[in-house]
Amino acid sequence: MIRAAVRVLVSNWDGGYTIPSRRLYPHQWSWDSAFVAIGNARWSPRRARTELLSLFGAQWYDGRVPHIVFNPAVPDGAYFPGPAFWRSRAPSGSATSGLVQPPVHALAAWKTHLAEPDVAFLRRIYPRLVAQQEFLRVARRSPEGLVSIVHPWESGMDNSPAWDLPLQAVEAGAAGFVRKDLDAVSADERPTDRDYQRYVALARAYRDSGYRDPGAFQVEDPLFNAAYGVAESTLAKIAAECGLDPAPHEREAASITAAMVEHLYDDGLFHARDVRTGCLVRSSSAAGLTPLLLPGLPREIVNALVGTALDRFALKDGVLPSYSPSAPEFDTARYWRGPSWINLAWLVWQGLKDRRPDLAAPLAEGMIAAVFGAGFREYFDPFTLRGHGCHDFSWSAALILDVVAEHGLEGVPAAGGEVGEQPGGFGEAGDVGDHVLL
Ligand code: DGY
Repeated sequence: MIRAAVRVLVSNWDGGYTIPSRRLYPHQWSWDSAFVAIGNARWSPRRARTELLSLFGAQWYDGRVPHIVFNPAVPDGAYFPGPAFWRSRAPSGSATSGLVQPPVHALAAWKTHLAEPDVAFLRRIYPRLVAQQEFLRVARRSPEGLVSIVHPWESGMDNSPAWDLPLQAVEAGAAGFVRKDLDAVSADERPTDRDYQRYVALARAYRDSGYRDPGAFQVEDPLFNAAYGVAESTLAKIAAECGLDPAPHEREAASITAAMVEHLYDDGLFHARDVRTGCLVRSSSAAGLTPLLLPGLPREIVNALVGTALDRFALKDGVLPSYSPSAPEFDTARYWRGPSWINLAWLVWQGLKDRRPDLAAPLAEGMIAAVFGAGFREYFDPFTLRGHGCHDFSWSAALILDVVAEHGLEGVPAAGGEVGEQPGGFGEAGDVGDHVLL
């Protein structure tokens, strides 16, 4: 399995970064690169550093790290919306989108450093990570002290049922575009056409404002804010390692944690808040569990989140659905509306490892069992572990390397099971030499 994971990462490597998937996502995606770096750090820290530095090479002057950096060698028609839609370039000259994604990159940089200490790398990336946070503070912070997203794609959980209500305020607009995602994945596993029309209308309006004015969608997402807070507490460690003052980052991490508890927490789960109405958007999204990542989360909130994870997300079974199966909107196979994703499970696993190792262990085993049975698929049915979405998906491979490095191979059936029984499971990995193994 380790060989197969490395093979996926090697075959998705484009020279300076890793594409998430050859057919569906043929460019560089922001939070994908962070997760990939976390996995690459386990076998090639040099590749992990290159991955992060290449992404930050496309950072804008205002500090934003675009959610897609386009590869000029890939034809414009290969992905929609491509460079011709976004019409924006980073100072480096790269064509990019103008949206952002959850800032999990400081965590990735720190884990890369832990795998192979390299203060020169930390010194190089630290100001870029600080600028990424600064953009969010300047452009996106509300008086309540929380950071907002202006498009569901910025959440990373594009069509989560959590966005159904806020998206009602968005005019769908005329179609006038051809979806490329349906060439690679079946329509019942992807967002609907109606959702897509809204995504495109929102992105177009944001683009036409010069990527400045939030349009009809503006929400404070618990996962995004948790990532922002973890970035600050991680920047404190990076600053200290570079001989700089960690205190401002520690203060910022404490203040976002307090703001999240005050404004986004209710009844055992964190929820998004609609900035336009000021109302909490109560949902059953597993994004509401990711504040477990915050080191300063009060103990009683941690306990309540764990209770919710056990009751409404069946955490003890080891497989985390992206949306609670007890909620009516739950869907086993459609993108972010219920299937289990390795990155989401990994984030919650990070938050549980020190606090509840008894629950972190089955979660690690659940991630391993999912890829053992179905291969490195994009997402998995949380009941049957059947794979969905694209094949050979980079972050599924990368994060499994990280989980296995820490947890071991518990969860892999000892004998008898054929690796990759389902079509799309592991292929031959003989092309990857032993020197790349952990
Ligand atoms: C997609 O194309 O589905 C991406 O999530 C948008 O960034």
